[in-house]
Amino acid sequence: MTRGTVLKYARIIGTGSALPDKVVTNADLEKIVETTDEWIRTRTGISERHYAADGETTGDLAFLAAQRALEAAGVKASEIDLIIIGTTTPDLIFPSTACLVQHRLGANGCAAFDVNAACSGFVYALGIANAFVRSGQSKKALVIGAETLTRMVDWTERETCVLFGDGAGAVVLEASDEPGIFTTRMRADGGFKHLLFNPVGVSVGFTNAPNHGVKINMLGREVFKVAVKTLDSLVGETLADAGMKEDEIDWLIPHQANLRIIEATAKRLNMSMDRVIVTVDKHANTSSGSVPLALDYAVRSGKVKRGQNLLLEAFGGGFTWASALLRY
Ligand code: COA
Repeated sequence: MTRGTVLKYARIIGTGSALPDKVVTNADLEKIVETTDEWIRTRTGISERHYAADGETTGDLAFLAAQRALEAAGVKASEIDLIIIGTTTPDLIFPSTACLVQHRLGANGCAAFDVNAACSGFVYALGIANAFVRSGQSKKALVIGAETLTRMVDWTERETCVLFGDGAGAVVLEASDEPGIFTTRMRADGGFKHLLFNPVGVSVGFTNAPNHGVKINMLGREVFKVAVKTLDSLVGETLADAGMKEDEIDWLIPHQANLRIIEATAKRLNMSMDRVIVTVDKHANTSSGSVPLALDYAVRSGKVKRGQNLLLEAFGGGFTWASALLRY
C-alpha cells in the first residue's frame, strides 16, 4: 500500500463503449439455422446483435471503449495507474489484452492484467479495481469488459448461436471522498462447469489445426434455472452488505443474457421494468461486455443521473456471479 491519504471510495467518473459495425438480425440468423425471429424474441428478448469484422479483435473494441471512457472522464491515459479487462476471448494467450490496450493508449508502466470470470468478468474486474482504490494502491483505474464471443460460436447449433454478440464497455474509476462503490461481491462454484463451458484450452485439446473444437457448450435450461436462483440470493446479500433497502436502488443494470432472467431478478427486487436497463434486445449476450455496455447506454441516454444508486450484477460460466452496488 502507498503512504498518504487513503480516500474512501472508488467512484465512476466516465463511461464508454464500442460495438462492431456489423448488425445481425434474427431474420439474418433464420438463413443460417432452423430458427425464427419469434422464437428468439419470446425466449430471450433478443432482436439483433453486432459481430466483429474479420481481423477486428477484443482489444480493438476494448481500446475504443477505453478511449471514450477516458474522454468522458476528462482523464489522460498517462494518469491511469491500473487497467483490468474482464474477458474470456483475449486477443492472444499472452500478453494479456490489458497490456495490448495499455500500450495503444499510451499508459505504459501501470499495472495491467485480464480477468477471466466468463460473463461476470467486468463485475469481477470492477470489484478488484475497487479493492485496489480503497487500499490506496490505485488513484485512477480503467476497468473494461470486452469480448468477441462470436469467434467461438458453433454456427450449426441453434440453441447457442442465436444468443451471443460482440462488444465492449469501460469505466474510469477515481479515488474519492464522495460515494462511490459501496460494496462488491464475487462468487463462484466450479461444480457447475459442465453446464456452460468451452472444452478447448491451451493445455487441453489444443492443436494448431483450424476448427480444433473451440465452441460454447451449454445446457440452456439448467443454466437458466441456476442463474435465476443464484441472482436471487446475490442481490439479497448485496443489499444486506450495503445496509440498503430495495426501494433505495434507482436502477438495476443486469447482465444482458436473457430478458426472462432479467425480469426474474427485477421481480425479486420489487422493481418495475422501467427501473431496469435493458439492452439485450440490441446487443444479445456480449459476456463481459454486457454490463458496461448497458451502463454506458444508460448514462449517455440520460436515464442514469449523478447521485443515483445502481445495482450491477452478472452471472456466467464457472459458474461465477458478482455484483456491485454504487452511487453514480
Ligand atoms: N430456434 C428455434 N427453436 C429452438 C432454438 C432456436 N434457436 N433453440 C432451441 N430450440 C428448441 C429446442 O430444440 C426445444 O425443442 P423441443 O421442445 O422440440 O425439444 C425448444 O426450442 C425449447 O427449448 P428449451 O431449451 O426448453 O427452451 P428455453 O425456454 O429453455 O429457452 C434458452 C432456451 C437457451 C433461450 C434459455 O434456456 C436460456 O436463455 N438459458 C440461459 C442461457 C444463458 O443465458 N446462458 C448464458 C449465461 S451467462
